[in-house]
Amino acid sequence: MNQRVADTIGRLEGFIATVDDALALSPEAAAFVHSLIFASGARRGLEIGTSYGYSGLWMASALSENGGTLVTVDHDPRKTEAARGWFESAGLGACVELRTGLAGDVLASLDGPFDFVLNDADKNNCIHYVELLEDKLEERAVVLTDNTISHVADLDAFVKWIRQRRDFRSVGVSIGSGMELSVKLGSS
Ligand SMILES: C[S@@+](CC[C@H](N)C(=O)[O-])C[C@H]1O[C@@H](n2cnc3c(N)ncnc32)[C@H](O)[C@@H]1O
Repeated sequence: MNQRVADTIGRLEGFIATVDDALALSPEAAAFVHSLIFASGARRGLEIGTSYGYSGLWMASALSENGGTLVTVDHDPRKTEAARGWFESAGLGACVELRTGLAGDVLASLDGPFDFVLNDADKNNCIHYVELLEDKLEERAVVLTDNTISHVADLDAFVKWIRQRRDFRSVGVSIGSGMELSVKLGSS
């Protein structure tokens, strides 16, 4: 990660500490997402739940190192515009497409394919979001769903559902608020 991105992440962490609606990944979880993208070579990233762009900065920096791009979605236009400013500050504006709207509507309109998805918006729609994306995921695409430990009751049905699907391999990761790491399998 270059110094400009690292400095912007540091400044955004300072801002996030002053508001109560960022709901951002922990720095450890965000660094994990960054490493996963970098190691996998993913180039077509999607984030459901932009907020102020904290996880998005970590994602976009790894995706841009891989020669890729990020699409990020949030229904709050105030947050989307704030996030745009942080992406510009980091020098990542050109590789990030910000979409403002309800995630279900935006996901249905996206072409794909995607090879890395951070599923981090409203927890009761996680199944619906994966269903909307399933035909737009490349083989071995990663879908990382946040809050499996902090919102265990909300995500219990999702975790059970994805683990019994034959076209995903899925495992829980005890990092940050807990994540479900699901890998899309090919047809063979
Ligand atoms: C947990 S926060 C995302 C945090 C962000 N991924 C990060 O780590 O910096 C969830 C975000 O999802 C957005 N959101 C909630 N429901 C949504 C929906 N139905 N469609 C689009 N965005 C939604 C909220 O506005 C909020 O900013």
